[in-house]
Amino acid sequence: MPNHSNGPDKVLIFDTTLRDGEQSPGATLNAQEKLDIARQLARLGVDIIEAGFPAASPGDLEAVRRIAETVGQEMRVDKNGNPTEPPVICGLARANKSDIDAAWEAIKSARRPRIHTFLATSPVHMEFKLKMSPEEVVERTRQMVSHARQYCDDVEFSPEDAGRSNPRFLYQVLATAIAAGATTLNIPDTVGYTTPDEFGRLIYDIREHTPGAKDVVISVHCHNDLGFATANTMAGIQNGARQAEVTLNGIGERAGNTSLEEVVMALYVRQQIYELDTNIITQEIHRSSDMVSRYTGMVIQPNKAIVGANAFAHEAGIHQDGMLKNKRTYEIMDADTIGLSHSKLVLGKHSGRHAFRVRLNDLGYHLDDEELDKVFKRFKALADKKKTVSDADIEALVADEVYQPQESWELMNVQVQCGSNVVPTAVVTLRNVASGEVITDAGFGTGPVDAVYQGIDKIAKAPNILTEFLVQAVTEGIDANGDVTVRIAVPESRGYTHTAQGRPRRRLFSGRGIDTDIVVASAKAYLQAVNKMIAAESEDAATVRIAGDDAVAV
Ligand code: KIV
Ligand code: ZN
Repeated sequence: MPNHSNGPDKVLIFDTTLRDGEQSPGATLNAQEKLDIARQLARLGVDIIEAGFPAASPGDLEAVRRIAETVGQEMRVDKNGNPTEPPVICGLARANKSDIDAAWEAIKSARRPRIHTFLATSPVHMEFKLKMSPEEVVERTRQMVSHARQYCDDVEFSPEDAGRSNPRFLYQVLATAIAAGATTLNIPDTVGYTTPDEFGRLIYDIREHTPGAKDVVISVHCHNDLGFATANTMAGIQNGARQAEVTLNGIGERAGNTSLEEVVMALYVRQQIYELDTNIITQEIHRSSDMVSRYTGMVIQPNKAIVGANAFAHEAGIHQDGMLKNKRTYEIMDADTIGLSHSKLVLGKHSGRHAFRVRLNDLGYHLDDEELDKVFKRFKALADKKKTVSDADIEALVADEVYQPQESWELMNVQVQCGSNVVPTAVVTLRNVASGEVITDAGFGTGPVDAVYQGIDKIAKAPNILTEFLVQAVTEGIDANGDVTVRIAVPESRGYTHTAQGRPRRRLFSGRGIDTDIVVASAKAYLQAVNKMIAAESEDAATVRIAGDDAVAV
């Protein structure tokens, strides 16, 4: 039986950003973005990547397959600089044959594949969602774990809504899963209902009362509805769990999942309490968090633990005084530990292409010549406008120029007229990427951004509802780059889709744009969201709708 734990002192980090995280409203990722994130997760050192839910659609299956064939095959470097195995690539499946078959199809080319199957065990889920008796749930668990084991010797089983399940019934279901060949038992607090004491006790009791539990890996998967996700996960770990299911920045449905960076840094900073380690390369945390935020459009709250913009900022005078005397007075970890560079002024307008490439490499970006040309041009333009160009500015330029989703429309030009006593007017020029046609049109609005959006709508003809608009500055100062995030919703008349767990949800798409001119940044952000919506709609046309609940016939 595979046990991926490297000894008793390790907690395995199972990252589900690409599956549970992607279920956050508006966090939809395309296949290329998923692959980029999976690559970064491998670099970060996660042990298991839950790459998606292959039965949800052919697009999801294909995205997981691409990750299995690439990231799942590539050797990487561990935190001691030694070559190490690729991460385990995991596919989620409801407890029915067709889901499990689809999961296997998607992950089978990975060097270390895992099937993760789940079935609800709480009274409310069994009665109203599954419409199955407890006996049927036990029997289905036995059949489906055995079915998954026919394909793969690494099988994870989750009793969904374990936090509200009858513990005695849980022991019975879990013992059945172990007997049928499950190698990891994951205990989800699906609706974030339990308290840390309760959840820790549940893990302890499962290990004590479930025959065979001490021979498999016990995993914890907590949601944050009461703000207890990290505390519950740590309580589970203290009671014997050796796998934590987490997402970067804690993204996920509703209030989200446990955040990877909080669990990893708690184990790192409080090593003396937990006496446990992970395989995570902590210096990659900041970059990974930033990439997920950028790709999903889920902005990180400034006071978010570990990765929030204020997490290492010391504003109050008394704190600054203490910090200058000794850093340890108010800082429990170094910013460098999570890969946050402190250097402010990196390059100026006289810096050459070579120096720029070296700096990019130091920051972890390895661009090809064409990409470098594009970013260098933007850097020169920015250095002309800004007195100081920081690492954050450079990272923002790379994000804006290189990591762009597939585009249907490209922004060529935007010009606005606004002020008191004029109707805000925008002239927008877009290029249709497929046909090469260049179209110009004008929009009028309540303000310059509204006018630009009206102009884009006239050309792209992709009706939507703007639900969120946020402007931030990449760095301090009046000459800072503006960073705009928008979220658009598909109008009801254009249809709904399903989440990975079968519940209907409204479709939301996010976009992000960066420019020293916030109107241009706003146009880029909006167009990116519109492009994502257009791409998803054409993918949907090829999507086989999944069944609406988990009670699919075996
Ligand atoms: O929250 C949950 O119950 C899940 C399961 C599929 C593990 O995400
Ligand atoms: Zn979950």
